[in-house]
Amino acid sequence: MLDVRINSFSEYKKAYRESVENPEAFWDNIAEQFVWRKKWNKTLSYDFSKPEFKWFEGGQLNITENVLDRHLEKDGNKTAIIWEPNNPLEESRIITYRQLHAKVCRFANVLKNNGIKKGDRVCIYMPMIPELAIAMLACARIGAVHSIVFAGFSSSAIASRINDAQCKLVVTANEVYRGEKPINLKGIVDEALKDCPSIQTCIVYRRALEPTLMVGGRDKFWMDEMAKANADCPAEQMDAEDPLFILYTSGSTGKPKGMVHTCGGYMVGSAYTFDNVFQMDANDIYWCTADIGWITGHSYIIYGPLLCGVTTVMFEGIPSYPDFGRFWEIVEKLKVTHFYTAPTAIRSLAKQSLEFVEKHDLSSLKVLGSVGEPINQEAWHWYNDYIGKGNCPIVDTWWQTETGAIMISPLAGITSTRPTFATLPLPGIQLMLMDENGNEIETSTEKAEGRLAIKFPWPSMARTVYGDHQRYKETYFSTFENAYFTGDGAYRDAMGYYRITGRVDDVVIVSGHNLGTAPIENAINEHDAVVESAVVGFPHDIKGNALYAYVILYDEFEPSEQLIKEIKDEVDQSIGAIAKPDKIQFVKGLPKTRSGKIMRRILRKIASGESDFGDTSTLLNPEIVEDIKNNAL
Ligand code: PRX
Repeated sequence: MLDVRINSFSEYKKAYRESVENPEAFWDNIAEQFVWRKKWNKTLSYDFSKPEFKWFEGGQLNITENVLDRHLEKDGNKTAIIWEPNNPLEESRIITYRQLHAKVCRFANVLKNNGIKKGDRVCIYMPMIPELAIAMLACARIGAVHSIVFAGFSSSAIASRINDAQCKLVVTANEVYRGEKPINLKGIVDEALKDCPSIQTCIVYRRALEPTLMVGGRDKFWMDEMAKANADCPAEQMDAEDPLFILYTSGSTGKPKGMVHTCGGYMVGSAYTFDNVFQMDANDIYWCTADIGWITGHSYIIYGPLLCGVTTVMFEGIPSYPDFGRFWEIVEKLKVTHFYTAPTAIRSLAKQSLEFVEKHDLSSLKVLGSVGEPINQEAWHWYNDYIGKGNCPIVDTWWQTETGAIMISPLAGITSTRPTFATLPLPGIQLMLMDENGNEIETSTEKAEGRLAIKFPWPSMARTVYGDHQRYKETYFSTFENAYFTGDGAYRDAMGYYRITGRVDDVVIVSGHNLGTAPIENAINEHDAVVESAVVGFPHDIKGNALYAYVILYDEFEPSEQLIKEIKDEVDQSIGAIAKPDKIQFVKGLPKTRSGKIMRRILRKIASGESDFGDTSTLLNPEIVEDIKNNAL
């Protein structure tokens, strides 16, 4: 726990005011809470036009000394991670801070023994097991940059990420179960590595007893390597601005962007926000159900909680296995006090019989959290009434892979919550709403709606897109002058509370996962029968949004169920199952502007069942709209 906890609404207002009046002093005070090898000499330097942001310049540290070593003396025997397996009949694992420290040091030496040095990139493609946490922290220990790829992604998605970052080593597991479904992770990695010349070593954790095909000279078992490695591994001294990790996120165009986060700023931001949003007591048990393959898992399963010295739960399975009561069974079993999940999970569980909830004792819960997409009224109330029993504040946390840490959220029990509102910015976060002309909407405007931007740097912001600084500039800093553009729309009420209304670009949030439509269209277009396609989102009562693909076929091909399956397979192979469209409509043409741009606005309306398309006469091919609408699914 940090010593910069906000304990009342008046303290929140004071902290917020100070953070705007003197941001450097505000963040200095927070950064001083951590162990630094050498103190920084400049808190912040920045230039939005380059864009370049540096926090705690000259400061030297290693984040793992803050995550692990600093807790050893007082809290070495405290549980750092409770691991809950996919199969409830398997034993949970409890790992103390001391044990985690020892394993991280040993695996850090495994990395070194395999030629990994400070600055090298390491890809991690693993299930939700403690070894994933150990591998990521071991990278941080020696200054290697981890690039974690969600273990639901396909081999070509892994390959493109490995190649983009030129990773030298990959860590994976052999076989893993998600519910009843076995997934051969090592096989998927083998397929990827056919196209990854930069990879020299593949370390395989044996999660299942199944025989595993190993490639001589390249593949090594985790256990064998650990047995050979030294136990002692002093932490590498890092510059505050050295990269800590790369995490890929979808963009509205082109390939995924490798967002680069740094050692110093990310540490300060993830810990400060965790501490204040969740307001945990020392013996509380925290569980975030995200996967570490996403930013939520990075910041709020591993770094934030462990930096604050609390106990964090890691769950390998899925909410529906062995039945829809699994989450609540785990809450009861582990006496979870703080529970953080996504609206899509809440909606899917709310659809099930209440018996799944009612047969479990949820009285340990104190705080509930939501992340990843807007939470609708029904889901909010179900969560509040049946899970929180009306006693647990719901922190609806708005943030992004790019922001590294929570930006807008209630502070549990300290500031007010309101259904569907992420409410107020955290201290240090200066928001603006922009109108269509790119001007800031006055804060005195009672009810404002616009595009959400951030007008002052914050420590945990991503510093660049790996290998493509120009793209960083264009995506985030070119829409508005001297501000970061979030890509989201938002509404602000008279009290200054924010509600996020959703993306304003061609990114669709499906089940809380950020998916760019362009790469999905590219995958569909790979099919020999496809001339062109357009993918849009449409509202879905469980996933929030689902994907609707409009596909034009070459004349010699007839629409068929088989073709639909093949097109979905293309997407599965190129990106992963999460990106498969729910609906595929074969069309004769796509509505286009005279300059040839697809009018997605119209396609989105058709997919949502709306019929008021506005003026379509300026289109190149207005007649196509009726045709698509008449055949809509
Ligand atoms: O549209 C917003 C939505 O998720 C986007 C960021 O996605 P990603 O980088 O994958 O990170 C997700 C986890 C932080 C945002 O641009 N989003 C995230 N949280 C919320 C949200 N929309 C509404 N309310 C939220 N609480």
